[in-house]
Order: sequence, then structure tokens, then C-alpha cells
Amino acid sequence: MSNKTFYMTDIEKIEVGEAPMPVVGADDVMIKVQSVGVCGSDLHYYRSGSIGDFKVEFPFILGHEAAGVVCEVGENVKTLKPGDRVCMEPGVPCMKCEECLSGHYNLCKDVRFWATPPYDGVLSEYITHPAAFTFKIPDNMSFTEGALVEPLAIGLHACNQGGVKLGQTVVIMGAGCIGLVSLLAAKAYGATQVVVGDVIDKRLEKAAELGAIPVNTKNEDIVAKVMELTNGHGADVCIDCAGFSSTVDNCLSAAKPAGTVIIVGLGEDRVNGFNTSIMSTKELTVKSIFRYRNLYPTAINAIADGRINVGAIVSHRFKFDDTINAFATCHRDIRNVVKGVIEY
Ligand SMILES: NC(=O)c1ccc[n+]([C@@H]2O[C@H](COP(=O)([O-])OP(=O)(O)OC[C@H]3O[C@@H](n4cnc5c(N)ncnc54)[C@H](O)[C@@H]3O)[C@@H](O)[C@H]2O)c1
Ligand SMILES: [Zn+2]
Ligand SMILES: [Zn+2]
Repeated sequence: MSNKTFYMTDIEKIEVGEAPMPVVGADDVMIKVQSVGVCGSDLHYYRSGSIGDFKVEFPFILGHEAAGVVCEVGENVKTLKPGDRVCMEPGVPCMKCEECLSGHYNLCKDVRFWATPPYDGVLSEYITHPAAFTFKIPDNMSFTEGALVEPLAIGLHACNQGGVKLGQTVVIMGAGCIGLVSLLAAKAYGATQVVVGDVIDKRLEKAAELGAIPVNTKNEDIVAKVMELTNGHGADVCIDCAGFSSTVDNCLSAAKPAGTVIIVGLGEDRVNGFNTSIMSTKELTVKSIFRYRNLYPTAINAIADGRINVGAIVSHRFKFDDTINAFATCHRDIRNVVKGVIEY
């Protein structure tokens, strides 16, 4: 059997090739992939070959947001069978360390995460994965919605960490995929006003379509806007999904006294201007998140029962055979591509 695979072979270069058929371990399932989301981190590796200390060695397979159909199961697997439609949690932690055993498995240092060097991603026809990190999706959910469970879990984790509740005002800086899924999560948790800031009109239009109050921070003061919307009080929760000094600063300034700021963005390694005076005088709670934990079932149920329309963030769909163009387009056309997905 052939296993067509797309390999990143250099900066901004992807080539088609054949991978060996993966071997199904006793606790694993083999999946025929059906949809893969193009993530900001994939694009970061594509354009620069590294993220922080993670450096790509070529050839390298991108892609970690995936869904497909089970085609074979290992001898110990009782929960899944061939033909099941599934999506996969891309990080497999060691389940032995203190973080894993205390329930914070997303913080495991030995996690094997797809498309994070040295571990390859999933832009292949067939892949294997532990059954424990493979989740059934119902028939009314598309494979692309299944693939987007991955980013949605980040938005849910950000809102959980921020304690977003019914009736609240939430600010989200950045309307990329992560800002948009945080918006969807905040709305699902009952936030009444969600103010989203970005500098790209197309992304702000998408945020508005999904129920946000959009603010182009190039020509409007988002903090003033939040104060106007909250009678000068400030937002309950501010979530930074951009990672810049100015966006973190906006979050600290827009938060209400005793409010919460959640750091999701990883744009700049060192954010300057962390205003300790504002943090102190408002007694803010500042938290960060790393990926997610135990949220796939929640995300799947929320999509399946129609509470979260995650498919609405998709702006561009490409065929699997067109993967090379998919990356070139998502990389080049940042003003127009909100979220790209590769459908097999
Ligand atoms: N903590 C985690 O677990 C985690 C997981 C995934 C992604 N991330 C990080 O979250 C961030 C968002 O991810 P993404 O995939 O949506 O990236 P993205 O690049 O698509 O989105 C970032 C958005 O921020 C906007 N932006 C830039 N400057 C701005 C400004 N001054 N004001 C308002 N908006 C501004 C950009 O226009 C862009 O739309 C990235 O930094 C990424 O590395 C973190
Ligand atoms: Zn992703
Ligand atoms: Zn561990």
C-alpha cells in the first residue's frame, strides 16, 4: 500500500513523496486521514524552520490538527473499530512524570506532539496514534470540524482559565485562528460582549460575523472602546492571542479591577512594558495557558450539538493533492486567509 506524504524539504519548500506504511502498535489505531488544518505554528516552521528552541530537520512533515477514519486497530484496543470517524489529540504525554500524574499532562516535558521537532506531523494518507488520544466524532460532524477540535480546545482552555461566565465582557487581542476560537468559546460560555482587536480587516470581519464587537487597533483605541462599553469599569476577562507588548498592554489596561488576563500569544519571547503598576493597583490575576488538557470531549460535544460552529472560521479549503499550494497561499496571502484546511 502506498502512503502519499508531503515533506517540508527546505524553508518555504514542500515536496510530495511516499512514507512507509505506519506500524500499528498494540494500543494504537491506524487512521486514514481526511482533513488537516493549517495552523499558525505550521506556517511558522514553513517560513523560518524553527519556533524558539524547536528546530526542523529536513525532511519534516507538517500538520497536527487532524481527523479521519479508523482503518485498523491494535490488539489491545477495545474502544474503537475500523470505520469509526475520529479526531486526534496531537500530543501524547509520557503519563509517568509528576505533571502527567497530577493531571497537567499538557505540561509534560516528554510529550510527543505532531509537527513539533523532532516529531513528524500528519500530512500523510495514513498515520497511527494511541487509541487513548483518538476520539470518536458523530456523523453530524464533518472531518474538518473534527480537525478544528484541536484549536478549539485551546480557546476553551483559555476561557476556562479565565473563568469566563454568563453575562461577562471579554476582550480578545488577535483575530487569527486562536483569537477566533477563543471568541467562539467565550460566547459558548455565555459572555455577552466580546470585543476583538486586530489590525487585519478581513479577520475583524470574520470576528464580527461570529458575534464579536470588532476593533481595528491601527485606528481605534481598544481600551477606550472597552471602557465605553462597560461604563468605565473594564472587561471581566482579557485574552491575549497575539503575543505582542502592545496587545498584552491592551489586555492589562482593558481589564476591570480584580479582572483576569490570560496570555495565550507567543509572538515575542520577551514582552516589554508589562505594566506592573496597573497589575498591582487593579489586583489583576494574570495566567498563561499551554495548549489544553482533557478538553477534546467537551469540544466535540459543543460542536456536535451546534453550540459552537467552529467550521465558520474556515476561509480557504484545499485538496490534499494541492498541499504545496495550500502552504504557499496561507503563507503569502495573510490579509485574506483567515484559516486554511486541507481536505482529502
Ligand atoms: N499558548 C498556547 O498554547 C498557544 C497555542 C497556539 C498558538 N499560540 C500562540 O497564539 C498566538 C495566536 O495564534 P494564531 O494561530 O491565531 O496566530 P495568527 O498570527 O494567525 O494571529 C495573530 C493575530 O494577531 C494580530 N495582531 C498583530 N498585531 C496586533 C495588534 N497590535 N493588535 C491587535 N492584533 C494584532 C495579527 O494580525 C493576527 O491576526 C500566536 O502567538 C501563537 O504562537 C499559543
Ligand atoms: Zn494548531
Ligand atoms: Zn509526562
